[in-house]
Amino acid sequence: MTHLLSLLLLLLLLPFFFLTALPAQPDSSTYTNCPSYKCGDVNISYPFWMMDRDDPAQVCGYQGFGINCVDNHEPSYPEITLGHDSYYVHNIDHGNRSILLSDSDVSSVVPGPNKCPRVLHGIDLETLPLNFSMLNVNLSFHYHCNGFPSFATEIQCLEKTQGKSYVHVMHSSIEETDWDAYSCADQVVTAVIGEHIHMFPDLSRQLGEILDKGFQLQWRMDDDDCENCEDSGGRCGNHSTTGFMCFCSDGTTTRGQCISKVSIFTTMFLSLIIFTQLSQPLRLLSHDSIDKLSFLGFTLVSSLMNSVSRFTPSVFRE
Ligand SMILES: *[C@@H]1O[C@H](CO)[C@@H](O)[C@H](O)[C@H]1NC(C)=O
Ligand SMILES: *[C@@H]1O[C@H](CO)[C@@H](O)[C@H](O)[C@H]1NC(C)=O
Ligand SMILES: *[C@@H]1O[C@H](CO)[C@@H](O)[C@H](O)[C@H]1NC(C)=O
Ligand SMILES: *[C@@H]1O[C@H](CO)[C@@H](O)[C@H](O)[C@H]1NC(C)=O
Ligand SMILES: *[C@@H]1O[C@H](CO)[C@@H](O)[C@H](O)[C@H]1NC(C)=O
Repeated sequence: MTHLLSLLLLLLLLPFFFLTALPAQPDSSTYTNCPSYKCGDVNISYPFWMMDRDDPAQVCGYQGFGINCVDNHEPSYPEITLGHDSYYVHNIDHGNRSILLSDSDVSSVVPGPNKCPRVLHGIDLETLPLNFSMLNVNLSFHYHCNGFPSFATEIQCLEKTQGKSYVHVMHSSIEETDWDAYSCADQVVTAVIGEHIHMFPDLSRQLGEILDKGFQLQWRMDDDDCENCEDSGGRCGNHSTTGFMCFCSDGTTTRGQCISKVSIFTTMFLSLIIFTQLSQPLRLLSHDSIDKLSFLGFTLVSSLMNSVSRFTPSVFRE
């Protein structure tokens, strides 16, 4: 009878074990490892993360999506580095997974010469899971040329002693070969939002406004571990020593996936079924079969304990 009691006790306690493994407030999404920050007017939140905050050994967000809040300046503003260049972050839109950026060299928010912005470099997305959105058009700049094709517009404000500089909206790469005849000193391609070309139709004089309003990138997720983590309600991260981490909404950390409340309730439900199924005929069983059932119960518990071990509270949190 003691075997039977311990078996029943195990099955009875099982759901409570899962319940106590849950934090006190399982309904509020805390993501203690993935706090959101406000920098200037912009909310910085997953998959973007704030650099130089909390524990630098651990990040919650995508690699390369770290944002620097420049706060030695009033008001403070967020910047992200792509390639070796920094970009002012206007806005992060989680609805369509897009981020609106403008080159820091030409952004009116970033201190510097903004009267006549000169685009110095293209946009290098490296291998980051980012792409240019459909809202953009490309602007092609040619600096200090000795002439220009008919489709180009002179940039009035740029210094002219070494030759005039031009800009045009790119329609095809064929246009670029037309420039070969004009021995320009430098050329750069950047992206802007197409709509702003129409909003500021005087490209020659309103170029600054168009550039200041920036361009849009969209992010995607291109990693299997991360996909599994996000699908389970978690947020992907990385620790400098342990590598990939999945941060769950209840504040716990796992190397795999978060355990959903659904699977906990399924377990409780199954436990209940097993309990009600066993409690009746069990009285008639021999001690031998009860031993076998206890063993079954033990196996069940240990396999569940195994999944519970994924509830390990973060040891990396400090
Ligand atoms: C930023 O976050 C705060 C609090 O989380 C929210 O009230 C505010 O509306 C958010 N702002 C934007 C622009 O999303
Ligand atoms: C994303 O949403 C914002 C507003 O929520 C909108 O202005 C923008 O055009 C959208 N971008 C795309 C690519 O749909
Ligand atoms: C960028 O990537 C997203 C998601 O992978 C896709 O939906 C979108 O069409 C892509 N945009 C362009 C311009 O390729
Ligand atoms: C602009 O240039 C980038 C990089 O060369 C390219 O990926 C993108 O498709 C171009 N966009 C348009 C609208 O032509
Ligand atoms: C995790 O971070 C380390 C450095 O902190 C980096 O070298 C590594 O590539 C990152 N791993 C992933 C999967 O992002």
